[in-house]
Amino acid sequence: MTGKATVTPWEVKGNIDYDKLIKEFGVSKIDDELLSRIEKHAKKKGLELHHMLRRGIFFAHRDLKFILDEYEKGNKFFLYTGRAPSGHTHMGHLVPWMFTKWLQDVFDVELWFQFPDDEKFLFKKELSLDDTKKFTYENMLDVIAVGFDPKKTHFIVDTEHAGIMYKEALKVAKCITFSTAKSAFGFTNEQNLGAIFYTAMQAVPAFLPNVLDGSRRPCLIPHAIDQDPHFRVSRDVIPKIGYDKPGSIQCRFLPGLGGMISDGKMSSSSGDNATVFTIDDAKTVKKKINKYAFSGGQATIEEHREKGGNPDIDVSYQWMTFFEEDDEQLKKLYSDYSSGKLLSGELKSILIEKLNSFLAGHQERREKAKKVIDKYIYRIKSP
Ligand code: TRP
Repeated sequence: MTGKATVTPWEVKGNIDYDKLIKEFGVSKIDDELLSRIEKHAKKKGLELHHMLRRGIFFAHRDLKFILDEYEKGNKFFLYTGRAPSGHTHMGHLVPWMFTKWLQDVFDVELWFQFPDDEKFLFKKELSLDDTKKFTYENMLDVIAVGFDPKKTHFIVDTEHAGIMYKEALKVAKCITFSTAKSAFGFTNEQNLGAIFYTAMQAVPAFLPNVLDGSRRPCLIPHAIDQDPHFRVSRDVIPKIGYDKPGSIQCRFLPGLGGMISDGKMSSSSGDNATVFTIDDAKTVKKKINKYAFSGGQATIEEHREKGGNPDIDVSYQWMTFFEEDDEQLKKLYSDYSSGKLLSGELKSILIEKLNSFLAGHQERREKAKKVIDKYIYRIKSP
């Protein structure tokens, strides 16, 4: 596919050039100096720099330096991320959450996790509030299964926590004109009113913890790059209502099984077969990868042995860069596949094994999560 890529919070398609996005969005590339600062903190906890940082999967940021400066002065930030409950969780959703869990471990900080059920209700014609409620529950199980510390993690659901959020959202909304929303999100006159207002709700958790306890902690938002327009707008507004601009750190998308050329991010909307869900069983995962994962291999075994495969466009290899933590292992896959020593089918088996052993543990933790869900949901304190 040729033509321009689209990256908005509600639509991602085309062949994404991340360097170009950095310029278009006005985010900064994470440089070596920032990486070694983060690494220094990781080492103190006996951890290596996260593989998603080492490999540039988390590749850009806003004001990360400020967040680290404050932290080193003793003013701990809190983390904020979220998931709009439009369906079951897939592997692409887990990418920023796994990284966020690592940040929670390294910096020993709180995480505020938003479930904007209002967002998906407003943006997806086919979804009722009952549907979004069901998926909020399902998605919460996955977030818990990632391993966040229940003592330091607070879930907020927009419709359920409206009582503490709405006042703050109003303050944000008052500072954003329709023309700003139009240019940030590409809205047209056909957009419903709720959808136009929504970005105000997504801004709130970036300062709500400070409202609730009167503190002045900075906020760091890990998220996939498509969410940046929200924070680009709210970063201008939040200081006007008395809080610091949130910092943010952005990741690339896990490609869909069909390949990076045809769909930039793995989306459940592009069909169940382009996606591996966290609730898929081992047989389903095997079938999906074998049948749908785009291959960078050659047409015949002979040709593959002779010319080698292309890991840069091979979805199985690309997925391994997200989920295989061992650099040596990954390097070997790259060279064996490029040389033709490793066949496409063999590479797929390696990925299937990786995903299925991860999912076996995840699904077990997901079951256990059902019993502890209440520990994570923020309980509104009566005034
Ligand atoms: N809008 C996000 C989505 O579509 C959900 C979300 C809410 C979010 N707050 C966030 C994502 C903060 C990242 C960071 O899933």
